[in-house]
Amino acid sequence: MTRKILVTSALPYANGAIHLGHLVEYIQTDIWVRFQKMQPREKVSECWYVCADDTHGTPIMLRAEKDGITPEALIERVHGEHARDFAGFHVAFDNFYTTHSDETRACANEIYARLKQAGLIEKRTIEQYYDPVKQMFLPDRFIKGECPKCGAKDQYGDNCENCGAAYTPNDLKEPYSAISGATPELRNSDHYFFKLSDPSCQSFLRRWTRESGRLQAEAANKMQEWLGFDENEGENKLTDWDISRDAPYFGFEIPDAPGKYFYVWLDAPIGYMGSFRNLCDRRGIDFDDYWKPDSTTELYHFIGKDILYFHALFWPAELEHAAFRTPTGIFAHGFLTVDGAKMSKSRGTFITAESYLQTGLNPEWLRYYYAAKLNSTMEDIDLNLEDFTARVNSDLIGKYVNIASRCAGFISKKFDGRLAEVQTSPSAAWLQPLREAAASIAGAYEEREFGRALREVMSLADAANVVVNERKPWDLAKQQGRESELHAACSQAIEAFRLLTLYLKPVLPKLAEAVEAFLGIAPLTWSDAAVALAAGHTINAYSHLMTRIDPKQIAALVEANKESLAPAPEAAAQKHAEKQENAATVAVAQAAAEPHISIDDFMKVDLRIARIVDAGHVEGTEKLIRLALDIGEEKPRQVFAGIKSAYDPAQLVGRLTVMVANLAPRKMKFGMSEGMVLAASGAADGNTPGIFLLAPDAGAVPGMRVK
Ligand code: 2FM
Ligand code: ZN
Repeated sequence: MTRKILVTSALPYANGAIHLGHLVEYIQTDIWVRFQKMQPREKVSECWYVCADDTHGTPIMLRAEKDGITPEALIERVHGEHARDFAGFHVAFDNFYTTHSDETRACANEIYARLKQAGLIEKRTIEQYYDPVKQMFLPDRFIKGECPKCGAKDQYGDNCENCGAAYTPNDLKEPYSAISGATPELRNSDHYFFKLSDPSCQSFLRRWTRESGRLQAEAANKMQEWLGFDENEGENKLTDWDISRDAPYFGFEIPDAPGKYFYVWLDAPIGYMGSFRNLCDRRGIDFDDYWKPDSTTELYHFIGKDILYFHALFWPAELEHAAFRTPTGIFAHGFLTVDGAKMSKSRGTFITAESYLQTGLNPEWLRYYYAAKLNSTMEDIDLNLEDFTARVNSDLIGKYVNIASRCAGFISKKFDGRLAEVQTSPSAAWLQPLREAAASIAGAYEEREFGRALREVMSLADAANVVVNERKPWDLAKQQGRESELHAACSQAIEAFRLLTLYLKPVLPKLAEAVEAFLGIAPLTWSDAAVALAAGHTINAYSHLMTRIDPKQIAALVEANKESLAPAPEAAAQKHAEKQENAATVAVAQAAAEPHISIDDFMKVDLRIARIVDAGHVEGTEKLIRLALDIGEEKPRQVFAGIKSAYDPAQLVGRLTVMVANLAPRKMKFGMSEGMVLAASGAADGNTPGIFLLAPDAGAVPGMRVK
């Protein structure tokens, strides 16, 4: 029976850039899909690849707020960036959509309604931390405090980065909201739960996760662990899943529950359906054919191993009980390390897709390298930058492209671009194994054993190079009377190159396109392995197909991604001050330059109420006033402030203002400056510009912290 296949990659969050870690999955999926699309229609009549941005949830809501834009504007901007990056790496979705769509909303509402009808939705009151300042319930990751185990400060609500302990936010000592800094309060709220603990979910999942082909062996074992090993002993480890969140929330409001929203992880996988529905409507595809419970079509989700729980438990249970089909298979991959370690901004190995492309690196180099490392397991893969250069240069340039670059010229120059007979030529018998390899290479692609497929392709390339080296067309070309040998040798080499291109096409689609143009042939499909190009077929002049990686390009890439240890705000401010020689306006200018900082960043600035106990002119400067500031310390601080154009020193003595107390001391030619006072600057409508020193309300005393 002819196969109809729907494939997805995990939906990227709409608040961050695509990086090389993400690309492992999109490249892996894209290769698999491209391979399917190269199959004859009798085998695979349809293969659709859909994805979308994952647009909902608190982080996206807060990020938009921080950027001063609506969430809709944020997700639209990011969608453009993601689409650009995917296209840059030749990831060819049939639809790259958004979860913030009518289609996804309709599917989410339908699934929810059906689950409710099946008695699998339950409303319960839960106690949760609430930020009284921000006036919202706090997700775990927005609650910080002291680790209950080791006492480390500023740890997240779910686990401690210092000692690794896992806990719930309620266990944290001295909890505070990571959004406002306020102490959160425990408050009650109604939430909606999907009853995964229901016996029907339990027994379904026990069966489903053990069915052949659904999960990789490693994943299936993990699921049994999560489900509890022995159903007869009544062990029931799955607890009900909280699928609602309180307003304010960016997402879909639950139809019969005003002020309650679907949790982002409820509608994210439904986004696969939403994206596909949108594609169906545009292309006349039968949606139900793919999603009805007894569908004979295949559905595969490519994901990272970190989100197995959602895809292998919650999602199939939801689909099953909402009377939709369940996934045919879930393919989880491992994480990416770069040079053997987690991607790191300080080392320059947290590499964005955009920077890779902007540095001028060829996306197909990365596609090839990832493919060479990928298999069907959940093992992590390492991008070793030195090995990357060596492998691509040796395999793609040294072995593969080399075949064409050494032989094509003779066909053009000596034979008017025409090929000799290959298929029936006795001297072409060596091509037989190359042709027959189509089946085993196809098997490897199908099983996601891309490393194995490429090893086989490269050993065929080695064999072809051995033949070319033995026949030495460059020598034959110099000898009279050996034209037909030269013609045969070069035509056969071109045929080998055509076959290798076909086998590499899922990985190197753009290169394959260039080769198709060079060979003057229609887009290669898998059945083209069977028959060689006919005698007399004309190829075009060879032009260079791919360059080698220059290690300097890799150095430039790492450099471009190196985030110099973020300059401490004090240091940045100080640098600015040196330039401006105007300490008072620094804070204002900094704020204008970088309006978005986290609360943690803000808390690094130690702002204090200061009393100006002395003020005087500074010899040799037009701008500065020397201030002595009392902030409750043993002796006043000396600060040079660029406020002379607006203030007479004598007027200032006795006033309260606000100073940055933890700015690194700076040596100026007039003496040490030990902080900075805060002032506004600029012009009110129609007025000349001025400087306006900040002053606290009555009651503040020197040394009080301002925050
Ligand atoms: O982990 C993530 O990045 C999620 N945005 C993946 C969602 S995949 C699917 F369920 F939508
Ligand atoms: Zn700890």
